Amino acid sequence: MGAAGSARPAVAADPAATGISTGLVEPVRWAFRVDPAAGGDGRAAACRGAVDARAGAAVIETILPAGVAGAELFTDPPELKPYPGEEGLLSAGAVDKRRREFVGARHCARQALAELGEPPAAILRGERGMPVFPKGVVGSLTHCDGYRAAALGHTLAVRSVGIDAEPHGPLPDGVLGEVSLRAEREELADNSGEWHLDRLLFCAKEATYKAWFPLTRRWLGFEDALITFDLTAHTFHSELLVPGGVLDGGPPLREFHGRWTIRDGLILTAIVVT
Ligand SMILES: CC(C)(COP(=O)(O)OP(=O)(O)OC[C@H]1O[C@@H](n2cnc3c(N)ncnc32)[C@H](O)[C@@H]1OP(=O)(O)O)[C@@H](O)C(=O)NCCC(=O)NCCS
Repeated sequence: MGAAGSARPAVAADPAATGISTGLVEPVRWAFRVDPAAGGDGRAAACRGAVDARAGAAVIETILPAGVAGAELFTDPPELKPYPGEEGLLSAGAVDKRRREFVGARHCARQALAELGEPPAAILRGERGMPVFPKGVVGSLTHCDGYRAAALGHTLAVRSVGIDAEPHGPLPDGVLGEVSLRAEREELADNSGEWHLDRLLFCAKEATYKAWFPLTRRWLGFEDALITFDLTAHTFHSELLVPGGVLDGGPPLREFHGRWTIRDGLILTAIVVT
C-alpha cells in the first residue's frame, strides 16, 4: 500500500453518488460494478481482475452491491494503531499477527464508515466475537494473510453483511468432510477445474455465518446451510436448513444470496441481507 494507512475505499468518494449520506438511502441493488463475466468466461475475467486490482480498483468492490461501502488493505501500514476504545479488545498477549489483522480490518471499517458519510468510531466486539458498528450501521470484517477488508451499510438499507477472505488454495486434508454436506461435495466433484472450489465453499459458509449471527445471535453449523454456486455468474445461494427467527423484527431468514470472486491468489465472498 502506497499512501500511509489509505485503505482503498470501494464506494465513490462523492457521497452524493451513493445517495446515502443525504439520508435518502437508496435501496441496495445487486449489480456488479465490474462484471466478472464481461467479455469472456469467468476464469479469464479472474485473471484480468488481478490487473484491475493493481490498477487501483478494490477487489471487494466487485462483489458488493451499490450502497454498501467496502475497503481493503493488502499490506499493514506500520503506523496503524488501535482506535481509542479498541485497545482493550486485544488481549495483552496478542501476537503481532493478531494485532495487525485486528487493526488493519478496523482501519478498513473506518474508511468504509467515511464513505457512508459517518464519523470515525471504534469497532467493538460483541457476542461471540461479532463486530459492533456505530448505531445505524451494520457490517462485516475479514482478514487472512496479506489481506484485510470491511464492508458496511446503513441499517435503513441493509439488515446484515457477511464477508470472508481465504487464500486460493486447497483446504487441508480432511477438512472438506468436516465442513460440507454430501450434496455440496457432489457439486464440487462435478465442477473440478482450476479453481479450488473446496476453499470457495468454506469461504461462502463463513460469510453465511457472519451474515446470520448478528441477526439471530445463534450458532450456525457447517451442516446447517446448503451452498450452491453459479460458476458463470459468480454468485452463490445459501439455503438455511434451520429455523431462521431473527431479533431485528424483520422476516425470518430462509436463504442468502451472495457473490464471490477469485483474484490475486485470494477468494472473497460477500452476502448482503436487505
Ligand atoms: C467466526 C468465523 C466465521 C470467522 O471467520 P475466519 O475465517 O476464522 O476469520 P476472518 O478473519 O475471516 O473473520 C474474523 C472476523 O469475523 C468477525 N466475527 C467473529 N465472530 C463473529 C460472529 N459471531 N458473527 C459475525 N462476525 C463475526 C469478527 O469481526 C472477526 O474479526 P475480529 O476478531 O478482528 O473482530 C469463524 O472463526 C467461525 O467460527 N466459523 C464457524 C461458524 C461457521 O462458519 N459456520 C458455517 C455456517 S454455514
